[in-house]
Amino acid sequence: MQKIGVLTSGGDAPGMNACIRAVVRSTVQRGVEIVGIRRGYSGLLSGEFVKLNRRAVANIIQRGGTILESSRCEEMKTVEGRTKAIQILEREGIEGLVIIGGEGTFRGAAAIAEESRIKLIGIPATIDNDVYGTDYAIGFDTAINTAVEAIDRIRDTADAFERVFFVEVMGRLSGFIALEVGIAGGAEEIIIPEKETDLEELCHTLRESFKRGKRSSIIVVAEGNEVGHTVQIAQYVQYRLKVDCRVCILGHLQRGGAPTARDRVLASKLGIAAAEGILNGKEGHVVGENKGKVVYIPFREIGERKKELDMRLLKSSKVLAM
Ligand code: F6P
Repeated sequence: MQKIGVLTSGGDAPGMNACIRAVVRSTVQRGVEIVGIRRGYSGLLSGEFVKLNRRAVANIIQRGGTILESSRCEEMKTVEGRTKAIQILEREGIEGLVIIGGEGTFRGAAAIAEESRIKLIGIPATIDNDVYGTDYAIGFDTAINTAVEAIDRIRDTADAFERVFFVEVMGRLSGFIALEVGIAGGAEEIIIPEKETDLEELCHTLRESFKRGKRSSIIVVAEGNEVGHTVQIAQYVQYRLKVDCRVCILGHLQRGGAPTARDRVLASKLGIAAAEGILNGKEGHVVGENKGKVVYIPFREIGERKKELDMRLLKSSKVLAM
């Protein structure tokens, strides 16, 4: 292989830059040319290529966001869009592509891999941490630490005013962020999309906690699919319990900032493994870490299977909140 491309796609995640750096430097080390594709699949379709070398990725390991920029591209969901992408890659002489992103990104990658001879490999980078077969995606550790730091601060003011705070974290379809942030932040309740919320039960739990002497509470809520649902929950609790409730939506704050050391190390390891993998015939896979070991998971499997949340940990959170 003489030339490969690298792009970042979907929601950016802290550590993407550390990953680009590792991919570029390990590819160059093997004597292979590498180009960056700007703005994810959208940039691919409009032919936005930048030459990369070792120096082009200097001083980025500590930076959040992605120097290549990212996008969510509807066109790539169509056969026409993918055909165009394949033609552009072939015209540019790009034989392999390293794709850094989340679940949705890999669905597009799987289709290109099936419809062309271009060799693709994926690296999981999403704060949602919902990529099947992998323990941690790049960016998750930074995001949860950012959210926990915010909760520690909120707890101070919640205590001072004896309030119930509903802290909304990201995660439209999955509660991985909410679960770990809830445990680490000592939340009284954790609300996730994987489990239906019984608001009466929530009120009962809070009432019981007040009886045990608690004066303030933190409830961590995954954003879920319905905009404004955290506010609705808070309003319901305020109405039923006649307690002072407040909502804090952490939102995109969780996506930015310098990656933690853990994310930088993971990004570096997976970047190297992806470059090695693509040059050694491991195409059509996502490279991730599972039980501390680097593993290659077929794109198809990622699309078809769902990463399961640890429901036992959710149960334990109730004991811990007593
Ligand atoms: O990248 C994942 C994520 O941050 C989700 O947690 C969140 O629901 C979504 O992206 C937000 O997307 P956008 O930045 O396009 O609003």
